Amino acid sequence: MNSKIEKLEHKIAEAKLGGGQKRIDRQHQKGKLTARERIDYLLDVGSFEEIGILVTHRTTDFGMENQKFYGDGVVTGYGTVNGRLIYVFAQDFTVFGGSLSETHAEKICKIMDMAVRVGAPLIGLNDSGGARIQEGVRSLGGYADIFYRNVQASGVIPQISAIMGPCAGGAVYSPAMTDFTVMVEDSSYMFVTGPSVVKTVTNEEVTSEELGGASTHATKSGVTHLTSENDVQCLEDIKALLSYMPQNNQEVTKKLPYDLKDEYREELESIVPENANKPYDMRSVINGITDTDSFFEVHKDYAENIVVGFARLGGRSVGIVANQPMVLAGCLDVNSSKKAARFTRFCDCFNIPLLVLVDVPGFLPGTDQEWNAIITNGAKLLYALSEATVPRISVITRKAYGGAYDVMNSKHIGADMNFAWPGAEIAVMGAKGASEIIFKKEISEADDKEGKLAEKEAEYADLFANPYTAAERGFVDEVILPKETRRKLIKAFAMLENKKVERPNRKHGNIPL
Ligand code: HXC
Repeated sequence: MNSKIEKLEHKIAEAKLGGGQKRIDRQHQKGKLTARERIDYLLDVGSFEEIGILVTHRTTDFGMENQKFYGDGVVTGYGTVNGRLIYVFAQDFTVFGGSLSETHAEKICKIMDMAVRVGAPLIGLNDSGGARIQEGVRSLGGYADIFYRNVQASGVIPQISAIMGPCAGGAVYSPAMTDFTVMVEDSSYMFVTGPSVVKTVTNEEVTSEELGGASTHATKSGVTHLTSENDVQCLEDIKALLSYMPQNNQEVTKKLPYDLKDEYREELESIVPENANKPYDMRSVINGITDTDSFFEVHKDYAENIVVGFARLGGRSVGIVANQPMVLAGCLDVNSSKKAARFTRFCDCFNIPLLVLVDVPGFLPGTDQEWNAIITNGAKLLYALSEATVPRISVITRKAYGGAYDVMNSKHIGADMNFAWPGAEIAVMGAKGASEIIFKKEISEADDKEGKLAEKEAEYADLFANPYTAAERGFVDEVILPKETRRKLIKAFAMLENKKVERPNRKHGNIPL
């Protein structure tokens, strides 16, 4: 009996050593944690239960039958984060560079299937040299098995990917199909083809970092939603993200206990400048409205003309989509429309109510935008908001012009409540441009053309550059003082808590991709 126990203990100890102490030391020298250390940090102390610790690969080619490591390069299992069940896999770079074999993929698929059956988030900690080269097509098949499951799980359970080392070739497509990606700065990269292939094909010289490092994907491509300084910060970011989400699409995020108090926020009165052409930071409005320190921004450095992220309002988790007048005057463009559409769809999948803050002069004009399909891409945001059935509330803080007025969660596309601040301007276009067009003849015939334009501009502004015409029609439900916004929103979201929307039966809509 004792020898049997010893045998088991020996196997488990061997498994926990992964590819051996030397390779673990190498991982530490690179400033990285090991797969097991990452899991320990992410999960509540003592909560992790491993599944498949004794799995080994089945390859016999290239002398592989003599090179076996328990676990086969990935640690998989379940545990809790702040008391909530999650499933997790962490690729172990110390075993064949974390490369993905047929059995490695089977282990990941097993917990993905369980996560969907049980209805709990899936967290993938990626650190891998890609397909296990010795296994050829079996490894490629393993990847496809994972991709397929990513899609089946999409919109059913939250999926979060951390990139904590290499992630190259087709391997990038699993994280790309999950809801959020977090990359560790300086130690991770993602690309479909690496620098040497790029050099051969296009003759471009580029480093891995430039091609697919964390800052590249945070700013240029938008592939990653967050970047973290190191492994520990990355795991903290995942915990923070999880705190705003429910376990699955049948649940709502647990509301923190909250008693409605004096919710007036005087500081909101002075954020928007008198001069309508002056910028201000929409984040000040967000922080002024939401529970203290609750705003968690995602995609911060990408398409900065729109701000998206999670926050709490009276303890309730909400998703925020907000124009940012500090960048491109808050215009909608290709990238900001895609960014906001994707975030909106995540919130709608997981029953997270949406707050849309509007200060938008319109869509960004120009050949660059038109040739890069602002029509199709702007339509993504229009589509995403129109199809969202979660409680949706807008606050127009200043401008709501042209098609962008319609797109930014107007009543016409299904917003439940639409508030406007007294300085709001809601019209087809700005007063100057509008006057130049509709009073063209009158202005051209006037002796004092500039004076006439100014007169007509004032006339137009008086009629339309305010929230009252829209309020008279019911397109704006209420014009409110900035300082009472928080109180109004907390009450309105509580009022909408049991909102239900029936949709016509269909397989799925056809969002303009
Ligand atoms: C098998 C691999 C491996 C792989 C690394 N290793 N990648 N073994 N299959 N794909 C092994 C190495 O042999 C080495 O073993 C150990 O992992 C660590 O690798 P090093 O090269 O020493 O580490 P490092 O210098 O940090 O470089 C890491 C690396 C490099 C940049 C990832 O290993 C590398 O370029 N690997 C190959 C990447 C690749 O081309 N993968 C296939 C991509 S195509 P020892 O025993 O020495 O410790 C792909 C298609 C997926 O993934 C398609 C899905 C649809």
